[in-house]
Amino acid sequence: MTNDDIPNLTAFDDAALDKAFGAVEQQAKSDAAAIDGPQAVEAFRLRWLGRKQGLLKEISTRWLKASPVEARKPVGERFKTLQALVEGLLEQSSVTGPTDAALAAEAIDITLPGTRRLTGAEHPITRTLNEITRVFAALGYSVGVGPEVETDFYNFESMNFPPGHPARDTQDTLVVANQDRRPLRDRLLLRTHTSPVQMRTMESQPPPVRIIIPGKVHRNDAQDATHSPIFHQVEGLCVDSNITFSDLKGTLDHAMKALFGSSVKTRFFPSFFPFTEPSADVQISCIFCGGNGCRKCKNSGWIELLGCGMVDPAVFAFAAQKQPAYDPKKISGFAFGMGAERIAMMKYGISEIGQLYAGDMRFLGQFV
Ligand code: DAH
Repeated sequence: MTNDDIPNLTAFDDAALDKAFGAVEQQAKSDAAAIDGPQAVEAFRLRWLGRKQGLLKEISTRWLKASPVEARKPVGERFKTLQALVEGLLEQSSVTGPTDAALAAEAIDITLPGTRRLTGAEHPITRTLNEITRVFAALGYSVGVGPEVETDFYNFESMNFPPGHPARDTQDTLVVANQDRRPLRDRLLLRTHTSPVQMRTMESQPPPVRIIIPGKVHRNDAQDATHSPIFHQVEGLCVDSNITFSDLKGTLDHAMKALFGSSVKTRFFPSFFPFTEPSADVQISCIFCGGNGCRKCKNSGWIELLGCGMVDPAVFAFAAQKQPAYDPKKISGFAFGMGAERIAMMKYGISEIGQLYAGDMRFLGQFV
């Protein structure tokens, strides 16, 4: 039944009215019976009670308004009854809600296995950076950060790599183009190590300093199984009065035991870094063979893991330009730096550095 199916009434006697209203009521009842869900309830409401196009509106126009004066009352009464019926039907179906058929269509089989949601997890590099940071945080170190796009001054000069010094060749990197008019010290490059954050930290606060600096660094190194042009380091710096080499040894020995297990031993070998004097490379007893010698440690029983040393007085002199308290005659300190990928690869038995960057879920899923 559409609006056009509502006939104009030609007779207004009781019998004619009963017949006309009766047909419409039947229709309303069968419409209501067919309701099978919330959408059908709304469709029923629109079809019958819609303000502009609803069937009741049409009936009111054609039958009520068009009726002769003497028929107004009987038509009006029947119209009210019809309206009450339709509203009642609507209310009933809204309350009753969807029919069994509609429910069955929406039902889920709770015996089927559910959809597993992937849980995120820390990337092994992030996890390693955090683990190292936590070990030093427990010793009272705070966490420092610095820019990845760094000036020549912070990356090299203030770390005691003078312009033209061959030590710079060991840390080649990408430099920002078209800076020839700037003084060398202001030219921008991608930092080759986290060491410049040592200087930024000292410039911003007087001693004592105990800071641990995790971060991303860049080098012009060809990618191979153990090298990547982008990698991560953790830098440490401790400055106070009377800091000695034995403080450095004690701190790093403790940190290596905390990271790799209490049976790990450390040993210190003379080395060179421009910003430390004396400098040392730290080796730990091989965590794979316990120091007996195996393929991983090339049968030496030892694995080289990080660089360190006592802060060079020349570095303090740069810091003292902004913070006079960094007077090498009054204070001393040690610094160290380690590669996060190398440590992650050892801890988790990863043989290809590229796996850490490939974003392959079959690899990453092992760390959930
Ligand atoms: N910056 C050095 C590098 O990238 C690592 C390093 C060695 C940092 C010794 C230090 C240190 O602070 O004392 O090769």
